Amino acid sequence: MSKKPKGLAVLGSTGSVGTQTLDIVRAFPNDFNVIGLACNRNLKLLQSQIEEFEPDYIHCNGTETEMTSLKSNGCQDCDLDTMVGDPNVDMVVTATVGDVALNPTLTAIDAGKHIALANKETVVMAGELVSARAKNAGVPLLPLDSEPNAIWQCIRGENESISRVIITASGGAFRTAPLNEMADVTPQQALKHPTWAMGRKITIDSATMMNKAFEVIEAHWLFGVPWDDIEIVIHPESVIHSMVEFVDGSVKAQISPPDMHLPIQYAMFYPERLHNPAIKKFDPIATGALTFEPWEGERYPCFDMAIGFAKRGGSWPAALSGANDAAVDLFLNEKIGFLEIGIVIKEALEDHTSTEAPELDEIIAAGKNANARVVKLVRG
Ligand SMILES: NC(=O)c1ccc[n+]([C@@H]2O[C@H](COP(=O)([O-])OP(=O)(O)OC[C@H]3O[C@@H](n4cnc5c(N)ncnc54)[C@H](OP(=O)(O)O)[C@@H]3O)[C@@H](O)[C@H]2O)c1
Repeated sequence: MSKKPKGLAVLGSTGSVGTQTLDIVRAFPNDFNVIGLACNRNLKLLQSQIEEFEPDYIHCNGTETEMTSLKSNGCQDCDLDTMVGDPNVDMVVTATVGDVALNPTLTAIDAGKHIALANKETVVMAGELVSARAKNAGVPLLPLDSEPNAIWQCIRGENESISRVIITASGGAFRTAPLNEMADVTPQQALKHPTWAMGRKITIDSATMMNKAFEVIEAHWLFGVPWDDIEIVIHPESVIHSMVEFVDGSVKAQISPPDMHLPIQYAMFYPERLHNPAIKKFDPIATGALTFEPWEGERYPCFDMAIGFAKRGGSWPAALSGANDAAVDLFLNEKIGFLEIGIVIKEALEDHTSTEAPELDEIIAAGKNANARVVKLVRG
């Protein structure tokens, strides 16, 4: 008997992760039924996705005129909570940026949906709350971000014997740039990631290494790894996506060419592994030497700052994430320099009063307030 296709809601369907998620649906059309597609303003791409996947629901933030010209083919325009809560949705792919997915992720968890989690800001802002709610509901959080996905693959079949997690980092756009030139780098330069093609925000986060701090936070909340057992190593080839050391000294690494299709497919089909001819295989000879370097802390001040706020807990990490969203946006719009990203975040958080064990509305407010504070500091 053939299996019922998995009902899918893709939040951020027009973005880097969202479009690659839909590539997996194209590769396995009998395994998925696209129930919902959500984006912000890219209505042109959404239109073609509506025609191709015929979802029941869409969500976007177009103007009235744009919305009138959108041919919805009978699908309903709804909010994200309605979309993810629909009984036909089995899995929600959270591939939006910033705090947009936070509330719908919790709604989906409470409704028992499986979460294919790309949006790391959700875990940064509310890791404790989200992981506790998922545990209570018996809902799996399936990370499709390549580093936590690699950790997940390495610990599969193991018991509680992890002694260390080593997260690899490409080093971002400025790994070898002279330190005295970092203040003057442009958004165009920062957007040139050496190994990964990703959305603009995460590419800047990779250059500042805020992204690596976010992955440490993911490893902590998704797998319960103590902060001090998580290390970072620079691995410029981006072929080993992370490693896990066990108490006997064995180390497992997950290896594959830098292509998000593989971790996305793994999360979408877990626990099955399927052959997808479109996914390039690892060729050790063609790849050549895999190298590792310690990182220079002074090149990436955002990393230590972010880990410090994450360890403090309460609403600090939510404020950190909200402030970072604003600072990255200001950098991309050439309102601040590259090195000012960390400076304005730190300054904005000086005003933050943390809440212990914050509720969802306090978490969202902490992010929004810190975001507004950064904008005010820069624009006056
Ligand atoms: N890209 C990667 O390889 C990668 C890897 C690991 C983890 N991640 C994480 O995955 C998330 C998405 O990253 P990305 O690189 O795919 O970002 P992206 O390319 O910028 O795409 C973001 C998506 O979110 C949508 N969106 C933005 N605001 C929205 C709103 N208010 N309501 C509904 N949809 C909204 C965008 O719609 P429009 O197109 O209309 O603007 C777009 O579809 C981030 O949290 C990132 O850290 C990404």
